[in-house]
Amino acid sequence: MSSPVQMTVEDGIAVIEINNPPVNALSQAVRQGLIEAARAADADPDVKAIVVYGAGRTFIAGADIREFGKPPMPPGLPEVIDEFELVSTPTVAALHGTALGGGLETALGAHYRIALASGRFGLPEVHLGILPGAGGTQRLPRVVPIAKAVEMITGGGMIGAKEALALGLIDEIAEGDDIRAAGIAMARRLVSEGKGVRPLSAEEPNRVTAEEFETMRSMVAKKARGLIAPLNCMKAIEAGMTMPFTEGRQRERELIMELFASPQSGAMIHAFFADREVAKVPELKTGTPRNIAKMGVVGGGTMGAGIATSALLAGLDVTLAEREAEAAERAAATVQSHLAGAVKRGKLKQDAYDAIMGGKFRTTTDYNDFADADLVIEAVFESMEVKKDVFGQLDVICKPGAILASNTSYLNVDEIAAMTNRPEDVIGLHFFSPAHVMRLLEVVVGDKTSDDVVASGFALAKTMKKIAVRSGVCDGFIGNRILNAYAKAINGAVLAGASPYDVDRAMQDFGLAMGLFRVADLAGLDIGWANRKRKADSRDPNEQYAEFADRICELGRFGRKTGRGFYIHDKAKGELPDDEVLEIIARERADKGITPRAISDAEVIDRYMAAMINESAKVVGEGIALRPLDVDITLLNGYGFPRWRGGPLHYADTVGLDKVLNDIKTFAKEDTNFWQPAPLLEQLVADGKTFASLNR
Ligand code: 3HC
Ligand code: NAI
Repeated sequence: MSSPVQMTVEDGIAVIEINNPPVNALSQAVRQGLIEAARAADADPDVKAIVVYGAGRTFIAGADIREFGKPPMPPGLPEVIDEFELVSTPTVAALHGTALGGGLETALGAHYRIALASGRFGLPEVHLGILPGAGGTQRLPRVVPIAKAVEMITGGGMIGAKEALALGLIDEIAEGDDIRAAGIAMARRLVSEGKGVRPLSAEEPNRVTAEEFETMRSMVAKKARGLIAPLNCMKAIEAGMTMPFTEGRQRERELIMELFASPQSGAMIHAFFADREVAKVPELKTGTPRNIAKMGVVGGGTMGAGIATSALLAGLDVTLAEREAEAAERAAATVQSHLAGAVKRGKLKQDAYDAIMGGKFRTTTDYNDFADADLVIEAVFESMEVKKDVFGQLDVICKPGAILASNTSYLNVDEIAAMTNRPEDVIGLHFFSPAHVMRLLEVVVGDKTSDDVVASGFALAKTMKKIAVRSGVCDGFIGNRILNAYAKAINGAVLAGASPYDVDRAMQDFGLAMGLFRVADLAGLDIGWANRKRKADSRDPNEQYAEFADRICELGRFGRKTGRGFYIHDKAKGELPDDEVLEIIARERADKGITPRAISDAEVIDRYMAAMINESAKVVGEGIALRPLDVDITLLNGYGFPRWRGGPLHYADTVGLDKVLNDIKTFAKEDTNFWQPAPLLEQLVADGKTFASLNR
């Protein structure tokens, strides 16, 4: 097999090309090829300078993540970069696309760096629960100020070429878009100017005082919320400032090995691949996406306005319909303010904003304006009657081949589709609030939805930069169905003795940004209340139903928007526990004959996770989710589940499915009705298998 690294000598310049599609990851063959090419070039007396660049769309996107967790295959990347840096011939890294992780570390091992203006650079290892382990934590602080190195290494973000030039991370921005030619030209210039080698390892690192570093460390620790990688990054950067290069590199190595040994990196690497795997659904093999350039949105409330914004940001042409002119104006104002915010944050160019306001976005009260839309998405009230009426009308007005989508959170998409003469063109597209911010999109596939329409849903998600998860039809689809299950378990814990504030603290300590009750207050308690009222008649009379949320709503307290919900929302003091809420709960316990007991944070989490995993297993077992990873991605991207725990089903594998099943059986002693073990979970335990075995 030919090497993915080739070296040619052109008039005294050795040109090393890395060609390992799609992203030139540093696989064993690339590492081997790179070091052999550098050695050969260095040994050739005709070679005066060396250029390394990537073929295809990018320089190197980092270590080959697929090799992680496997036995090491020499040569190791740190050794390769160290040797590459210490050649006696000046080297140029010519960068385009994204130089990330081990890719940027390779570039830092070169003596000079040039990049296309479109190039982007970063050390995203922290997003995989590790740190830059090939000298990145030692070499970057020798180029950029410590505060910037801390930001890049612990934050994992990318910077552009202009900023990289200003920081001295690159020496030049190339003109044009031929990075190979630009690299060779720079190498020739260096030769003619008699420039020599310039290894960063020989330079002094930038430094800050111990006190300044402590301030940075405490800020990083605060943001880390349970993730240990940023803290190890800080230790490695500190070692770089206080130790000679080789010792700092050794410390970096120990610290990355610690991270590799932690379940956090396994979870985040799982999430990285699952984020990409989730888009691989059967309909994409058989279906052809339809062209979607013009979108209609019915309803301009919270979701309709967010969806319209998201579509406009993606470059689509949008018509939004409301029931009355006044509501349409309100929706237009909301969309406009979302877009103005995007301009402010640099997410939307001013001319693109002007084009949207100048005609790409319009509101109406007449569905006839949807006649030429390629897709219409309905985001009206969560009522089957209202939705059926809307779909009946859309079916008559919309052109043949137009896709009719519903943003319903819970309702049966097949029943909605049955209102039309084109059920094959009907699909659920369940966005999350705020729709222009949240990345998750559940693509809900009905019985009759055609493969082309499913493929179109996934293509639309990509255009809108969303992560799409395929879901079958059931009450609440993947995410809200699972949410309802764990919310019931949490309510059970509250009735048993925990307070909502205990629950939120336990969940936040577990790694969630916000506990369940904080989220409920933020989203508005009225939504869940309406849903519970809708389902009251069909509720199982044997269910242990917690009423305290209803009691709070009956007082007109809907959370943050009304100033009171589970918390008191005080403008000056923030969120405060509410004694009246505790009284409402105490009264319900007394009415139900429950004697409250102390519930530990660990028990809160065991209940929360057992319910979540159990319902997730049902969702997979029933085929609502294609694979366990689809559930993980839903919870990670839509429900704030900590990424470093990998999603509920990855987490279940790490704690052991037998423990989870045992927990369920223990809790079932209190409420057999709710805690019914999922058949799939029982089967996996009996077979000694994991959820991961179903992802393959
Ligand atoms: N290793 C192995 N495979 C990788 C990879 C990597 N570093 N980066 C991307 N891929 C794969 C993806 O899994 C995907 O495979 P698939 O087509 O089979 O699903 C394919 O390459 C294309 O990737 P994307 O779909 O993500 O393509 P985009 O164009 O959207 O994004 C990218 C390109 C910005 C490079 C993005 O892939 C990315 O962020 N990659 C990861 C970068 C990273 O984390 N690098 C650090 C690695 S760790 C490291 O270097 C350790 C060192 O310090 C020791
Ligand atoms: P909302 O009450 O904020 O907005 C609904 C809007 O639809 C109102 O402005 C109303 O005037 C308009 N409307 C009602 N009937 C109409 C009709 N026949 N024609 C045109 N406009 C009509 O509700 P929200 O929160 O935006 O929810 C909309 C849908 O999105 C619901 O199905 C809901 O379940 C779903 N959803 C809501 C989420 C949320 O967090 N709010 C999240 C995901 C989905």
